[in-house]
Amino acid sequence: MKKKITATVLSQKEIAPRIFDMWIATDLAACAKAGQFIGVYPKDRSTLLPRPISICQVSDKKDALRIVYRIAGQGTAEFSSYQEGDSVEILGTLGNGFPTEAAEGKKVFLMGGGIGIPPMLELARELPASTEKQIIVGYRDDQLFLKEDLEKNGTVYIATEDGSVGTKGNVLDAIREQNLTADVIYACGPTPMLRAIKEYAAEKGIKCYISLEEKMACGIGACLACVCQSKDVDHHSNVHNKRICKDGPVFLAEEVEL
Ligand code: FES
Repeated sequence: MKKKITATVLSQKEIAPRIFDMWIATDLAACAKAGQFIGVYPKDRSTLLPRPISICQVSDKKDALRIVYRIAGQGTAEFSSYQEGDSVEILGTLGNGFPTEAAEGKKVFLMGGGIGIPPMLELARELPASTEKQIIVGYRDDQLFLKEDLEKNGTVYIATEDGSVGTKGNVLDAIREQNLTADVIYACGPTPMLRAIKEYAAEKGIKCYISLEEKMACGIGACLACVCQSKDVDHHSNVHNKRICKDGPVFLAEEVEL
């Protein structure tokens, strides 16, 4: 189900420099799942396109969505000024989401880097009880947003670029340092991180799902900024392009070129 609605802001706070945590009351939550996103429309109509923002959490009653986003431009700067009771126009739910059934009875890595961390929270909440959840998150520094929420849903390992907390380096450095292993990987973060994880998964023969949400712009199939090459062979051209916002944002790592 996808629809455009006016929702109400329940709360908003800054949880790290320029990173905001907003809860929105909306019945779109009833059908939302981890790895999906919503389009949020700025009130400033200099652009008609929404900003795609991933779903960080669905409330237990399935009547509210939590989004955690970084200020990246005018639109997100405007969202950061919203307060309890403000209305916000949103479109959702968008995208395919993570396939959680692949984790049944398995040992998994949930790997999030930077603003790719938020979708890992809802994913950790949705994975089956039989899944062993190892959540590996990479931050720039000691601003460990969402750490406590993640710890309630799995075992958390931290990497920081500046070495201030956990392993110095990235999420792959953390799993090597801790000698961690997994049967399935779910990952979201900057493209260089996903490229490295894709290589790691191929080398170890691990099934790996990556969310390419970082490459999206409008999120609704209108701008074509998100096209990526896929391995699917098209009968006519031998290549096939996918729109990340429509066909993804989650793909099997081996299906897409990064
Ligand atoms: Fe605009 Fe996909 S993000 S078409």
